Amino acid sequence: MSAKNDKRVGRYDLITPMLPCKDEIMEKFEKFLMSGNYILGEEVRLLEEELAAACDVVDAVGVASGSSALFVALAMAGVRPGHEVITTPYTFDATMEAIILLDAVPVFVDIRPEDLNIDPGLIEAAITPKTRAIMPVPIFGAPCDMDPINEIAAKHGLEVVVDMAQGYGTLYKGQAMGSFGRMSTLSFYPTKNLPGIGDGGMVLCRDQRDADRIRKIRAHKAVRANDRLYTGWNSRLDEIQAMVIRIRHGRFNEEQGDRDQVAAIYDSYIPEAHRLQYPIGKEGMKVTHHQYWVRCTQRDKLRDLLDDNGIDTAIFYDPPLHRHELAEYVRTGSDMTEAERAGREVLILPVHAALPFEDAHRVGKIVQDFLAVEEKTASN
Ligand SMILES: Cc1ncc(COP(=O)(O)O)c(C=O)c1O
Repeated sequence: MSAKNDKRVGRYDLITPMLPCKDEIMEKFEKFLMSGNYILGEEVRLLEEELAAACDVVDAVGVASGSSALFVALAMAGVRPGHEVITTPYTFDATMEAIILLDAVPVFVDIRPEDLNIDPGLIEAAITPKTRAIMPVPIFGAPCDMDPINEIAAKHGLEVVVDMAQGYGTLYKGQAMGSFGRMSTLSFYPTKNLPGIGDGGMVLCRDQRDADRIRKIRAHKAVRANDRLYTGWNSRLDEIQAMVIRIRHGRFNEEQGDRDQVAAIYDSYIPEAHRLQYPIGKEGMKVTHHQYWVRCTQRDKLRDLLDDNGIDTAIFYDPPLHRHELAEYVRTGSDMTEAERAGREVLILPVHAALPFEDAHRVGKIVQDFLAVEEKTASN
């Protein structure tokens, strides 16, 4: 029977995970309102300190959004008009927009089928004299393979900027993903694993000079760096967002534990060939499951079946960015077989800290049964 009219299983629940800290937020809000200290106050400063410590970097600078963080980080990494930045086509638009806004060129190389992250084995062939940086994106919270990426960057004198919008809490070989690039960028968009209640972002810096410069630029101060003068503008992290994010950060591990359990339930139903393989179970690797994905050739049929059962899903990223409407600004540095296939086959299942485990079992079972029939049909 169709469950279309019953309560649906939503992809997100932005309210329930916040409820345990609602009173604390309201209390702090009252104080904040009466303080008159509305811009770049104590909350932003403390959040910067806390996240720099959590991600093992020298400093962190709160900015207006994850997109803004990418733009300023790439600029400070010396990306200039005509430069090329090597990145993945299987990511959200913002990754490439920041490069294009700097009049630089996103150069896409294909992804690995097992984790949907940039394939380090394809990067070197895409390097040209114009290449300035490599920008890995731990997509859906799965760590990128940073050792080979950093080796290639060092060998060719390139900067590494990690787009960590989906990767807060993700670990690579026991180390925070945010500690690998010269800079990494966070987004606090409300659907992210570490959420605000509006827009917000942060640049995690391994070089104090980058942090000092970004702190100036975000508040209208000009900066001289990379042999040029950069104008300042307004890219401040809002004090209210910082206050809420700090409170949510205090509950991050607990919420992550719930997301992990949902993912473990799905894993128990979905065969490895149809979901994230690497690096689950490998030492020091932590996937934060910003999204949980399943893949199959009959993806749209599976989506319809889940919809009929009252389960919301999403399709990311179809088409991948090399076929985006901004494609005239980009270049491909390899063929795009796996990114294309992921665009056609990947389906995003509900995963969040408030998803009832019985719902996760129901979703997992429906997917399992569908895949079993699909495999049987394919082998006949
Ligand atoms: C991979 C990636 N990069 C960048 C961003 C941009 O973040 P924001 O929405 O905070 O600008 C997002 C947001 O969804 C994202 O998923």
